[in-house]
Amino acid sequence: MKNVNKNEGQRGGFGTKIGFILAAAGSAVGLGNIWRFPYLAAKYGGGIFLLVYLIFAVTFGFALMLTEIAIGRKTGKSVIGAFKSVDKRFAPAGWLGAAIPALILPYYCVIGGWVLKYMTVFLTGKGSEIANKVYDAGADGGGLSFFEHFISLTGEPSLFFIIYVLIGAVVIFLGVEKGIEKISKFLMPVLLLLIIGIGIYTLTLDGAGEGLKYYVLPDFEGFTVSKLLKTIAAAMGQLFYSMSLAMGIMVTYGSYMRKNDSIEGSVRQIEIFDTIVAFLSGLIIVPAVFVFSGGDESALNAGPGLMFITLPKVFDSMPGGQIIGSIFFIIVALAALTSSISLMETVTAVVMEKFRISRAKSCIAVIIFTLVLGMVSVLGYSEWSDFTLFGMQFLDFFDFVANNLMMPIMAFLTCILVGYVVKTKFVEEEVMYGGKQFRSKLIYRVMIKYVCPVCMIVILITPFVTKI
Ligand code: PHE
Repeated sequence: MKNVNKNEGQRGGFGTKIGFILAAAGSAVGLGNIWRFPYLAAKYGGGIFLLVYLIFAVTFGFALMLTEIAIGRKTGKSVIGAFKSVDKRFAPAGWLGAAIPALILPYYCVIGGWVLKYMTVFLTGKGSEIANKVYDAGADGGGLSFFEHFISLTGEPSLFFIIYVLIGAVVIFLGVEKGIEKISKFLMPVLLLLIIGIGIYTLTLDGAGEGLKYYVLPDFEGFTVSKLLKTIAAAMGQLFYSMSLAMGIMVTYGSYMRKNDSIEGSVRQIEIFDTIVAFLSGLIIVPAVFVFSGGDESALNAGPGLMFITLPKVFDSMPGGQIIGSIFFIIVALAALTSSISLMETVTAVVMEKFRISRAKSCIAVIIFTLVLGMVSVLGYSEWSDFTLFGMQFLDFFDFVANNLMMPIMAFLTCILVGYVVKTKFVEEEVMYGGKQFRSKLIYRVMIKYVCPVCMIVILITPFVTKI
């Protein structure tokens, strides 16, 4: 079928509908699904969190993603140009939208480097060696896990970080259709198959049933109103992050989308893909950790350390753990890679458009920027670990500013722009382009005008009011 996107030719674009869906799903499916979702679900009452999350996904997540893709496709520009052309006064929102991926990309690649390291450790058969190893912490005593020891170094984390950035850069150099679309079409189905495979395997382990119950059945015992509110805020924040919303990514990808493909249908499929991977990751991790810890729920609250510290121990104690661990870290590496590619593409598209330079030149500029800022995050855990910003290391600080401050503001501005300035008709027209139906129009309007802006304010103030 012929591509009718008006930018086709100069900017490149997705050649097929499934290519677009898988690339956007590739952006959405990442560390957020595999590492963050399971421990949040476990922490916030299992089934209750799942339910709240699902409700948000089909309402608020749906509305925001649809809006971003429609703005991108209608304007055919990257995030800065897109917001400016919708309404001049909203140009600063476009800049904010471009600053977010630029801030996230470097540290996301640092974490990607950690994942690469774990993948090589498992693939070279050293998984059990690192699982229980304790390193000397030096003068002040106490032992360090392999993970804590590894990130306190400078050389190796930098090396894996650089390799990771370069892998992503190759895909960006190749462009949208030959790079991003091709790799997503191949990687996403592989990822899904692998995750279903190990999901089935972990469920056959002794005692997994208990863990499964804990994961899917709502636990209302001791569930207070305040806990419910925290659960809601956590589910909203997670949805946001998981679907790569409010950072210009979906605007950029939307700008490469073909005019005659359905936006509504694509958004549904991207959401389903993202939610299935998150759910399956929980299905692997929660019962496995449950079995490993002998039913001790506190093991699941391990938070950030869950994937890098607890899981290797789980794999070590599991029959065939070395192989399962290798497959698991391959999955994580692939998922993280397609997410960082979307960040890199968003930043590259902005640089290309703003400075009117070629893809290759802007890609080089973005690589240099990423390497420099990423090194700050690497050093923040090693040489400069004494230095903190508001009590946070650099990486955590970047993460906090982007996710808890900039993203809700960006989403709030997007809702105001579409809900009240240009009105929802702006988006509806694009969704219905070519005579397509917009089945969820009513719910869409309610979401963008009323529910989403309020949710954004809740997300914005929650971390300051309560520590979740
Ligand atoms: N959506 C990604 C995930 O679930 C996270 C992400 C955030 C990706 C920002 C790109 C940009 O991990």
